[in-house]
Amino acid sequence: MFIQHQKHLFDIPKDVTYLNIAAQSPSSKLVTDAGIKGILQKSQPHTIAGADYFEPVNELRKLFAKVIDCNDHERIATAASVSYGLANVANNITLQQGDEVLVIEEQFPSNIYVWKTLADRYNAIIRTVKTPKSRKNRGNQWNNDILDAISDKTAVVAMGNIHWSNGTLFDLKAIRKKSKEHNALLIIDGSQSIGAVPFSVKELQPDAVVCAGYKWLFGPYGCAYSYFGPYFDNGTPIEENWGNRLDSDKFAGLTKYQSEYKPLANRYAVGESGNFIYVKMQTEALKQVLLWSPNDIQKYCKDISSDAVTKLQELGCHIAESEQRTHHLFGIELPDGLDQKALKRILQEQNIFVSFRGNYIRVSCHLFNTREDFNNLVDCIESLMKNQCHDIHRV
Ligand SMILES: Cc1ncc(COP(=O)(O)O)c(C=O)c1O
Repeated sequence: MFIQHQKHLFDIPKDVTYLNIAAQSPSSKLVTDAGIKGILQKSQPHTIAGADYFEPVNELRKLFAKVIDCNDHERIATAASVSYGLANVANNITLQQGDEVLVIEEQFPSNIYVWKTLADRYNAIIRTVKTPKSRKNRGNQWNNDILDAISDKTAVVAMGNIHWSNGTLFDLKAIRKKSKEHNALLIIDGSQSIGAVPFSVKELQPDAVVCAGYKWLFGPYGCAYSYFGPYFDNGTPIEENWGNRLDSDKFAGLTKYQSEYKPLANRYAVGESGNFIYVKMQTEALKQVLLWSPNDIQKYCKDISSDAVTKLQELGCHIAESEQRTHHLFGIELPDGLDQKALKRILQEQNIFVSFRGNYIRVSCHLFNTREDFNNLVDCIESLMKNQCHDIHRV
């Protein structure tokens, strides 16, 4: 059965058109309630048991493992941000002079700065695969260019499975194959897709995955997840938190200092990862995410946006070919000459929320959106065009 909208789970005001989950998801009412429970628990600290520092976060890691189709939750660590997860990843990579770290043009900065620092340390090179000039079949061309750019010089491929500002789909299966052939690590930033696009660690076998928790995974701002593959099993974490050591749940013996970490990814968990407020919210959020299927989310988002896409294309906007981009997030390039400042003003007046990223208006939607939201956006762009046209004719 085709999935229905899920507006009732959220609390978005009726007069707001929220097409901006790629920036920040709304909490569902259940996630809000879970957060409040956490806040109230802190006012009665005697109710916090020793196990509360560890067990809920283990349950959370199991949920995220399910989300990314990974068999072993011990390979998951929670983090405070994507940059935190990537800092742990980069901290354990040694490059040779002249090695290349391959990234995509206009990638999100948290997935760039870390590589620049690493490359500088080893006299290595950041190789950026540029956006193809031609708009036609840009996604396909981009994927070909990425594959062509992977060579024996490539030490790391660090990218998302979609482009964060325009939704271009990257063929990670083919990229993984080629990167393996050249012994390059594949590090994936799934922040703009995991939860809304099918994703499988079993299938892709990446070396590491990082993912923000506050977008398509509906958690609070300040949470993220990482998956660490076998390459990182004996690595060095960027911080030395007591909780990440073996037997840390035996509080009485904490000062019998322990040289061993808990297994696999546990050494990379952010300090105080048991956070009683966040973990409760994240757990509720991931339980909900797991009830939806990413394929259904794509179908739903396509269904509510496709008329708007056609209309915007007729109005002269460019939107990539449907099969080369995602439907939960895509970019609209406005026709030349359209006054972006005026558009921003009108959108604000009409309570319509999107993101302006580079050349794109980034539109992002989920099951709390409906076709009406897209109609509102199209109406605004169309009315601005008519007014501008009118003004030009009057001059
Ligand atoms: C692709 C991508 N990665 C990561 C992030 C967030 O990074 P951080 O958690 O380091 O702030 C964002 C935020 O918009 C993003 O779009």
